Amino acid sequence: MNSPDKPWAGRFNEPTDAFVEAFTASVDFDRRLYRYDIQGSIAHATMLARQGILTAADRDAIVAGLTRIRERIEAGEFEWSIPLEDVHMNLEAALVADLGDTGKKLHTGRSRNDQVATDVRLYLRAEIATIRAGIERLQSAILEVAEREAASVMPGFTHLQVAQPITFGHHMMAWFEMLQRDRERLADCRRRVEILPLGAAALAGTTYPIDRHYTAELLGFARPAENSLDAVSDRDFIIEFTAAAAILMMHLSRCAEELILWSSAQFGFVELSDAFCTGSSIMPQKKNPDVPELVRGKAGRIFGHLMGLLTLMKGQPLAYNKDNQEDKEPLFDTVDNLKGSLKVFAELLGALKCNPQRMRAAARQGFATATDLADYLVRKGIPFRDAHEIVGQAVALGIREKKDLSELPLEKLRRFSPEITEDVFPVLTLDGSVAARDHLGGTAPTQVRAAIRRARERLADDPT
Ligand code: ARG
Repeated sequence: MNSPDKPWAGRFNEPTDAFVEAFTASVDFDRRLYRYDIQGSIAHATMLARQGILTAADRDAIVAGLTRIRERIEAGEFEWSIPLEDVHMNLEAALVADLGDTGKKLHTGRSRNDQVATDVRLYLRAEIATIRAGIERLQSAILEVAEREAASVMPGFTHLQVAQPITFGHHMMAWFEMLQRDRERLADCRRRVEILPLGAAALAGTTYPIDRHYTAELLGFARPAENSLDAVSDRDFIIEFTAAAAILMMHLSRCAEELILWSSAQFGFVELSDAFCTGSSIMPQKKNPDVPELVRGKAGRIFGHLMGLLTLMKGQPLAYNKDNQEDKEPLFDTVDNLKGSLKVFAELLGALKCNPQRMRAAARQGFATATDLADYLVRKGIPFRDAHEIVGQAVALGIREKKDLSELPLEKLRRFSPEITEDVFPVLTLDGSVAARDHLGGTAPTQVRAAIRRARERLADDPT
């Protein structure tokens, strides 16, 4: 016989194989849903009582009993049982042990199938708020750096080759925009998380006169799910969240990669605080950028969870299948690593030291103002393609003579075009180059400062 406390033991004649019992159990990981399971149960019992399915006395006893269980868990006094399989049956068994027959009434009009889907939605809604706040903190750290370095000139790259001068503040604001979209994506995803599965029961709905709108209202969900089969079986909201998480991690990994490059001796644009680096056991000079490297690495693991979840769902017939129990570990791991990465990244940026001299020196290499010279010739009436060719020849001379364009004497420049006159030199300076890109979205320091002001307003307009 199965142990009598297994709620489903009635139709079984033989006990569960001990290994199977451990193999099918999820309590080791789904116990972290306890708070949401209790929250959902309290809402369910409250609704049942309002509909006359439970008495008010039963409801009060259940609510008090569940609250006591939550307190025991939080005090570390709750004993989780593997034979009781999952968080739902552990909590229900504890309620029955406490209240007797009244505890047995909680599961009226409900199944673990709509229960678990509800728990995960409640959990994810809370975690999305925390993650969005974490993104916001990182965005604020970015704005601080951007403000400090709004006029610091660095080389902008394409193909990791020097392209045009930009300001470091402008580069920081590119990161800000990436994260802004991530925060929006999560808010959008949350709209589809806040939908109530309860009432779907096992798969077809329930014979009791329930009020699903009321339960949804009690839980602060937007509305009940339209279709019971869909409500208990789909995990697309988890996949969607993980996709948004994967994109966010892709962004963090790009930022991490830049910090790793910039903090190398070859670049020297920034210095990471010692608190975020480690040394080498053999090379005494080393200061390794472990934190950004680890964040870059964690992106891979979260992409893996996205693939895993898609594959988990693929080919499952309606409605609930035990396969779905496998959704939790990748989801929890995604949430944990995302929160950790955001936290550490914000702190890393908060302690970031920049070296504008090194940035400027690097921008002087690689003919970063070549486009400015071409634009100058266009302003003098030369078609852009011809201007491009002329500047190409000037660059070739600069390479031969190991001189930047601004260092070539006027007579030499005039050999390529008589349109070039003394007024070319301000155009060829780094500050002149960035200041000239003076329109919305451009790299001019005045534009960067305006973008930072708007960014602060956008953050304030969209509370988490
Ligand atoms: N532990 C299960 C899960 O995570 C709960 C739902 C179980 N339902 C069932 N019919 N076996 O999906």
